[in-house]
Amino acid sequence: MASQAAANPGFTPRIFSGIQPSGGMTLGNYLGALKRFAEKQDEGIETIYCVVDMHAITVWQDPEKLRHQTREITAAYLASGIDPARSIIFNQSQVSGHAELAWILNCVARIGWMYRMTQFKDKTAGKNAENSSLGLLAYPSLMAADILLYHTTQVPVGEDQKQHLELTRDIAAKFNHDYGVDFFPITEPLIEGSATRVMSLRDGTKKMSKSDPSDASRINLTDDADTIAKKIRKATTDPNPLPDTLDGLDGLKDRPEARNLVNIYAALEGVSAETVIREFAGAQFGTFKPRLADLAVAKLSPITEAMNRYMQDPAEIDRILGEGAARADAIASPILAKTKEIVGMIGR
Ligand code: TYM
Repeated sequence: MASQAAANPGFTPRIFSGIQPSGGMTLGNYLGALKRFAEKQDEGIETIYCVVDMHAITVWQDPEKLRHQTREITAAYLASGIDPARSIIFNQSQVSGHAELAWILNCVARIGWMYRMTQFKDKTAGKNAENSSLGLLAYPSLMAADILLYHTTQVPVGEDQKQHLELTRDIAAKFNHDYGVDFFPITEPLIEGSATRVMSLRDGTKKMSKSDPSDASRINLTDDADTIAKKIRKATTDPNPLPDTLDGLDGLKDRPEARNLVNIYAALEGVSAETVIREFAGAQFGTFKPRLADLAVAKLSPITEAMNRYMQDPAEIDRILGEGAARADAIASPILAKTKEIVGMIGR
């Protein structure tokens, strides 16, 4: 907070983050994003949480599924404790300023910056990159627009979004430089806690992801208790027990699967990895996994149940999104108008 104030004097502290409705939500999304979004509400900072449907269509989405998943992510926001009275919750496409600012930022950002993004490289790996959508290439510039449209000072995300946030800073700095202004803040990424990168349950070197072909690699927020327990029991591990001293924690660096399960436990329980090692010093996975499964079920089941409850009233979800969009638009509109003026566009 203090460093933020120093980095962006004159800007009201404001948090923005988003999740793509491009598939189901995983434990990675929950621990790396959702859970932390909810916690941020208690810090007395304005919080804006978006369902980024315009990002989702950079890869083709079935329209019915897109609508369903947009509501499902909204339900997950609500079920995780994000309170529409304290936070703004909306879907991106309802605030046209995102697209408008993205265009202006497309003209500030350089094509080479986009080609360097590892997410773009990963998503086009083994495919003909020239045949991917233009939107997929420009994706990070839309993300910068999401953030800068609200003069956001802090963005809570998982580790995988770090490069996009660095790019957002570069785009803001170049805009400020090109137009000789100090208009956009240089946004601070908030990548915190023990679960900034939850890994696949099958391969500890790969990120847990909604797009992994193996369902056993991830825990979905829609999984029932038995499925969660089974996936954790079957998670890949090495044959060694957990370290029996804190010094052994360092050794987990070379045991990615073991480290991942310890980190997941720590994040679900809201404690440090050290505390987990203290509690389970020298334990075999035969002992640790059932305890982790119990913890995961205890923490996730209420969320899954609440999500299902919210999903039974899609009209109420749509109402929350609409109301959030109006509030978001009220913040965005003057910032967009001022941006256009800086660029030299005539307004009404
Ligand atoms: P998305 O939809 O892929 O993921 C949403 C959030 O979940 C985090 N996350 C993870 N955290 C820990 N471990 C994992 N295995 C894991 N998988 C996903 C992501 O880091 C993210 O915080 N480009 C973004 C969406 C976006 C956005 C924004 C975010 C669009 N505009 C503006 C912040 C601000 C994305 O694709 O996230």
